[in-house]
Amino acid sequence: MSTARTSDLWWKNAVVYCLDVETYLDSDGDGCGDVEGLIERIDYLAGIGVSCLWLMPFYPSPNRDDGYDITDFYAVDPRLGSLGDVVTLIRTATDRGMRVIIDLVVNHTSDQHPWFKSSRRSKTSPHRNWYVWRDEPPAEPTADVVFPDAEDSIWTKDDKTGQWYLHHFYSHQPDLNIAHPAVREEVAKIAGFWLELGVSGFRVDAVPYLIETGGVPGDVDLDPHGFLKDLRAFMSRRRGDSVLLGEVNLPPRPLRAFFGDDQGDELQLLFGFPVMQAMYLALARRDARPLAEALEANPPIPPDCQWATFVRNHDELTLDQLSDDERQEVFDAFGPEPGMQLYGRGLRRRLPPMLDGDQQRMRMVYSLLFSLPGTPVLFYGEEIGMGENLDIEGRMSVRSPMQWTDEPTAGFSQAPPSKLRRPLPEGRFGPLAVNVTQQRRDTDSLMSWMERVIRRRRETPELGWGEATVLSTSEPAVLAHRSDWEDGSVVAVHNLGDEPCIVDIELACDPHSTLVDLLDSGVATHPVAGDRLELQLERYGYRWFRVQPPSGRSAP
Ligand code: GLC
Repeated sequence: MSTARTSDLWWKNAVVYCLDVETYLDSDGDGCGDVEGLIERIDYLAGIGVSCLWLMPFYPSPNRDDGYDITDFYAVDPRLGSLGDVVTLIRTATDRGMRVIIDLVVNHTSDQHPWFKSSRRSKTSPHRNWYVWRDEPPAEPTADVVFPDAEDSIWTKDDKTGQWYLHHFYSHQPDLNIAHPAVREEVAKIAGFWLELGVSGFRVDAVPYLIETGGVPGDVDLDPHGFLKDLRAFMSRRRGDSVLLGEVNLPPRPLRAFFGDDQGDELQLLFGFPVMQAMYLALARRDARPLAEALEANPPIPPDCQWATFVRNHDELTLDQLSDDERQEVFDAFGPEPGMQLYGRGLRRRLPPMLDGDQQRMRMVYSLLFSLPGTPVLFYGEEIGMGENLDIEGRMSVRSPMQWTDEPTAGFSQAPPSKLRRPLPEGRFGPLAVNVTQQRRDTDSLMSWMERVIRRRRETPELGWGEATVLSTSEPAVLAHRSDWEDGSVVAVHNLGDEPCIVDIELACDPHSTLVDLLDSGVATHPVAGDRLELQLERYGYRWFRVQPPSGRSAP
């Protein structure tokens, strides 16, 4: 096994941690997190084993979509800090062995962006064609509105010139016209700017919408994927190890297209939305088969590319790829009240409350996250099992401040609780019960467990690099998969059921091998009988094993 080969393509086996500066740590007591606060927590993040930080948007913004509505791509919102602070942050993170990637939100701007202000001024404005204008909206729009609670069309009429502009998201987020060469150049300039300041790449927002320009035939000369190939080539010229992580919520086949050709010349990382959604269906049913099927439906991916796996992110838990009945099953299990649901397609919850705080079940789910094929992405607070605050409107319910201590402001800020950027949850998942300070002193806590699992994950490159195969098992509730890389294999087993079981797994490996337990199940090794494994699992039990051939060298 060649660990030496793993560094160039660092994204194939990273541990990514997403956070929003404004809800992480407030250093100056104004109730809003800031870059200086985050810098104080860089050692915390390095300590839990994070290898790449993903920062949500920190650009100047009127904040009508939590910073995803940007007025200047080359600056930092003064509420959060300065450009100098961000460079210091990148520098400090790099020193502690962590890379930084940032959100690249160029599907749209804020309607307050100077480009849009100029564009809407007149039909002859130099920025007119930076956005997508039509005399009439197409009779059959190319897409549905993303936020049906707030918008009823992706086209809005602007009174000044009587034309309509495209916006896939809110009407205050006009779509940039990526078919315009000047816009493409500007996007490259933005990427180049941040690469120069030391970031390792971008999480690219809303990619399918970015390359879709309104669907009026005949007037747009754009090879959508050509734009992504150009951007990727540009980034690689500027910085060979830079990465593009795409938000593309599509079924497996169209999703695969965003990796590019056989060699992978577009986005190196794509969030695995289909597997994530199937995982929730499997959890709801306590039946591993939907997850196994989703893994098997994943097309092979180019060698330099990788899935980004996740349990939760900053948006609603979207279940739009499930059938109506399947989605209803997940709603019934994990978010039965209408106030927990959003847009008819998702849940505005974090995992621990969905699982009623069941520690064993939560750990099984995170064990899945760290062992399924891909690079795991954590959302801040997942390491301690934070819950959502349903009193906060819409998708923001999962974006409450990080819970550092059991104080009324959770150690997030010195400001009075009423001044916090967002209110903290109360009760079972509030800071009194769930916080970093208490969990780091407890070796049985979720956080201590998470640190051990992340360490093990980092020592197990087969999981990120290997080719995964779903193994057949005697129990429908149990998922078993094997990852093979070079001459090493790792087997992971997860019981999604709430009953203990004895499961028989077809390992298909050397019958004389031994299985070395990689987690802390208490049994160090298991013999293999023939090429099968009989295993006793607790409710929601999980195991990771390295397959050690008879003559193999053992690792700690
Ligand atoms: C992406 C982001 C979401 C944002 C939207 C518009 O889906 O994840 O938070 O509102 O794009 O930028």
